Amino acid sequence: MIYFDYSATTPVDRRVSELMTEINEEVFGNPSSVHLFGQKARGYVERARQQLCTAVGCDPTEIIFNGSGSEANNIILHTLLYGEKRHVVLSAIEHPSIYNAVKELEPLGISHTIVDVDDTGRVDPDEVSAAIRDDTGLVSIMMVNNELGTVEPMAQIANICKEQKIAFHSDGVQALGKIPVDVKNLGVTSMSFAAHKLYGPKGVGVLYLAGGEELHPLIAGGSQENGRRAGTENVAGISGFGLAAELAAVEVHDEMERLSHLRNIFVSNLKENRPEVMINGHSSETVPGVVSLSIPGVSAEKLVMKLDMDGFALSAGAACASGSPKPSRVLKAIGLSDELNRQTIRISFGRFTTAEEVDSLLNALLKHIPIAEAETAT
Ligand SMILES: Cc1ncc(COP(=O)(O)O)c(C=O)c1O
Repeated sequence: MIYFDYSATTPVDRRVSELMTEINEEVFGNPSSVHLFGQKARGYVERARQQLCTAVGCDPTEIIFNGSGSEANNIILHTLLYGEKRHVVLSAIEHPSIYNAVKELEPLGISHTIVDVDDTGRVDPDEVSAAIRDDTGLVSIMMVNNELGTVEPMAQIANICKEQKIAFHSDGVQALGKIPVDVKNLGVTSMSFAAHKLYGPKGVGVLYLAGGEELHPLIAGGSQENGRRAGTENVAGISGFGLAAELAAVEVHDEMERLSHLRNIFVSNLKENRPEVMINGHSSETVPGVVSLSIPGVSAEKLVMKLDMDGFALSAGAACASGSPKPSRVLKAIGLSDELNRQTIRISFGRFTTAEEVDSLLNALLKHIPIAEAETAT
């Protein structure tokens, strides 16, 4: 079975799993305990914090470990409940941990404005600016979309937020490890990350929050993470995240080049053989390993099942939406009809994808996409 679903999650890198096994077997202390067992565990957590800081360019006090990318997003939205400015601007293609979370907060007095995207999945910064109101407390625009791979115009949005003195949160879950992420250069106030998207473990997230910014804990209790996220730390998971982030930061440029090359070969061969296939997303403002394809006349659900039987694992639209009869909200937002929406698959390459594997996927795909009948001249 060959894996082409790296956007859904990634296999844990062996170097990361070896470290985690060592910690699980030998480091059981509670990082809050003062004795030697506790100190040892604390050492691992703080080392990971440093690795994350180096990877994203921030200070250790600005990293908050938590349970997932979804939690990191929810922490930021939840904080709005305690401020005076209770309006959020977000894009139509945010992950459900932003998109659905703002809807959950509506009855509690948090209002929101959704900004549309163009047919490549990019937000227009002028529309973000126009959506800002006197009571806007947050702009939340993801850096990279999970279904399309499109990268948003971060610098322009950051400038608008800076000028208007509004916090700018960005969901960076699909960005870290795929493209360089430097939170200070990006100009974000906060950013969320998840270890399992960059060859780390599942169930570990990070929220970067710029120094001095207000935060109200979503999970109250003990004083872990400086009182900002209660709960005894997942020492092995956090350490795994630290190492995964360090490895990804070192390898990101080479990996971008390698994956862009694989993607280009795949897309050009596919287009040459089946010109009717549509490639969704932006042609240049994209992460290199993601290909969203719409294949007129071919059911994505059936195609994914056939490819599964052939030994290839990939998704129909977003992983979380597969099996659901509802068309993807993201694909709808870029203007795909419901029919084309259901004829869209997402292929995502990653660290362990080889040129031979991409070639065999291409051949399998071609087998299942009928050759379009040539138009007869009348
Ligand atoms: C863009 C984006 N944000 C947030 C998340 C949620 O991360 P987690 O699975 O760690 O909750 C995902 C996961 O699919 C994602 O793709």
